[in-house]
Amino acid sequence: MKQISTFEDYLQQYQLSIEEPEAFWAEVADDFVWSKKWASVLEWNFAEPSVKWFSGAFTNLSENCIDRHLETRGNQTAIIWEPNDPNESFKTLTYKELHTEVCRFANVLKNLGVKQGDRVCIYLPMIPEAAIAMLACARIGAIHSVVFAGFSSSSLSDRINDSQCLLLITADAVYRGEKKIDLKKIADDALTQTPSIKNCIVYNHRNTEISMLPERDLWWHNLVKDVSAECPPLQVEAETPLFILYTSGSTGKPKGVLHTTAGYMVYAGYTFLNVFNYREGEVFFCTADVGWVTGHSYLVYGPLLNGATTIMFEGIPTYPDHGRFWDVVDKHRVNIFYTAPTAIRSLETYGTAIFKTKDLSSLRVLGTVGEPINEEAWHWYHQNVGKEQCPIVDTWWQTETGGILISPIAGVTPLKPSFATLPLPGVQPALLDSDGIEISGNSVEGNLCIKFPWPGMSRTVYGNHERFRQTYFSAYMGYYFTGDGCRRDENGYYRITGRVDDVINVSGHRIGTGEIEDAIDEHQSVIETAVVGFPHDVKGQGLYAFVICTGKIEDEEVLRTEIKAMVSEKIGSFARPDKIQVVPGLPKTRSGKIMRRILRKIAEGDTGNLGDTTTLLDPLVVEAIKNGAL
Ligand code: PRX
Repeated sequence: MKQISTFEDYLQQYQLSIEEPEAFWAEVADDFVWSKKWASVLEWNFAEPSVKWFSGAFTNLSENCIDRHLETRGNQTAIIWEPNDPNESFKTLTYKELHTEVCRFANVLKNLGVKQGDRVCIYLPMIPEAAIAMLACARIGAIHSVVFAGFSSSSLSDRINDSQCLLLITADAVYRGEKKIDLKKIADDALTQTPSIKNCIVYNHRNTEISMLPERDLWWHNLVKDVSAECPPLQVEAETPLFILYTSGSTGKPKGVLHTTAGYMVYAGYTFLNVFNYREGEVFFCTADVGWVTGHSYLVYGPLLNGATTIMFEGIPTYPDHGRFWDVVDKHRVNIFYTAPTAIRSLETYGTAIFKTKDLSSLRVLGTVGEPINEEAWHWYHQNVGKEQCPIVDTWWQTETGGILISPIAGVTPLKPSFATLPLPGVQPALLDSDGIEISGNSVEGNLCIKFPWPGMSRTVYGNHERFRQTYFSAYMGYYFTGDGCRRDENGYYRITGRVDDVINVSGHRIGTGEIEDAIDEHQSVIETAVVGFPHDVKGQGLYAFVICTGKIEDEEVLRTEIKAMVSEKIGSFARPDKIQVVPGLPKTRSGKIMRRILRKIAEGDTGNLGDTTTLLDPLVVEAIKNGAL
């Protein structure tokens, strides 16, 4: 694949990608392995919406990630697994070994009756088996739905049921830091509510005592023992569904964002190579979990498509101490390091003494993803981790976009702290005002939309195309609406300012306020809840819940503890509110709509100017909330 080498080159490539998008992407796609080339590069309309890339072509993603490297780099390490406990030895898998494991597991899936188009749920910790299971699904045309192992049993069962998964793959248990998570137990609870699941495959990771339901539950190691390591990759048409990944929106249940095979493959491969300016033989360390889109595109698929060595780290940044990331970088001579601003901000609180004992000289490129990075964190990262030698790529994208859309190209794009800078080739951003008019020129701000398809974009919400259309293509006709606000500076550089809808980004995790409100409302003493975000030094945004209760609450501390436990049980502990205030009422308009704008101001501690409150049903309620603010 052609790599962008200079800023001039970027400008030229960008121009070409806008003027002749089909020719541009056809040339990129030429570098992948196809059993049949496409009949047309792109067919699209954003009204339906319908988007097809490389229609008529046949390929297989697992073949592109593994088989095609066997001859040239079969003995090179594909995956380095770094365990939670640094005293345990790390593991490596070469491309050849990965091939064997993926083929075996693909045959296991086939033996259990999994066919093309069937959905397989993966609920695994950060172990190579997660990547093996994903690649095995891709190999036989099954659709994987990875659920982050921090989600609770009810979130897991909701996701399984929404896409009617046939099979669940999990592990006995995992340690994250000192905390043990009994995955199989959580899965067991979920499995009481999931009639579509025929089997549950369990990987024995920690030798934990667990219950195995005869016939339904099967051990991974028993299944792979006697199967063949030969499994030809199934050639699938370009638009064949590849995976579903659930993500939160402003309203309703999480959406099953669907990605299809060829476009996603081309986009993940192209963006990995270019954004990080990846060079042959380098070691790439993405700290994201495989349960999120970053783990899909830049821990598994992007690096493997490029024949890179990718690190899968099971632990957390602060165990056994806050130098753990840097130990991993030092130990495995990491060249490219990709993490979330929240991790940087949390490590920043420990100071810089730790860096004296770590050798980070292998680092060449740094990246961030998931939320805006504040200037202070950017400089801290640049100075202490990158020793002022490594470019930082602030990559903006979303679960729905499949890959990075706006980002510097490492070593090529001039950087500007806290700016995602410029669109990648093929990406046509537009800022729209509240009347839906595109804002031209520089030094402007608006709602970020994309006006032309790119190969990695999501094609639908699984089982609900109308929801897909309404969420992303109805706010502004002819545009994909991202839900983010954005500024374009005097040089045309983009700075993402945050969500403009009711989605809150907590430590880079995207959480819909509606979901948390529903979970809190299940508490027996709670009548109604409104959750808003507020600025948080480490998490970026924290969650502030205003709750109306039945009668007088004897002990508010007990109530708070119970509400947090409720959210952990319904969603997962990462979604627990930071602040919970009991209020006599919520500021509502006469039509019953909660005025979140007012609650946001109170949560931010900015109560001086709450704007016009005269249209409220009960303006006095605002005073009461203000007086009790935490
Ligand atoms: O608000 C933007 C924020 O994260 C949202 C997407 O979240 P998710 O689908 O979970 O994917 C996260 C990983 C790609 C976006 O709508 N976001 C992501 N990257 C950035 C960002 N905000 C500012 N700067 C970024 N670099």
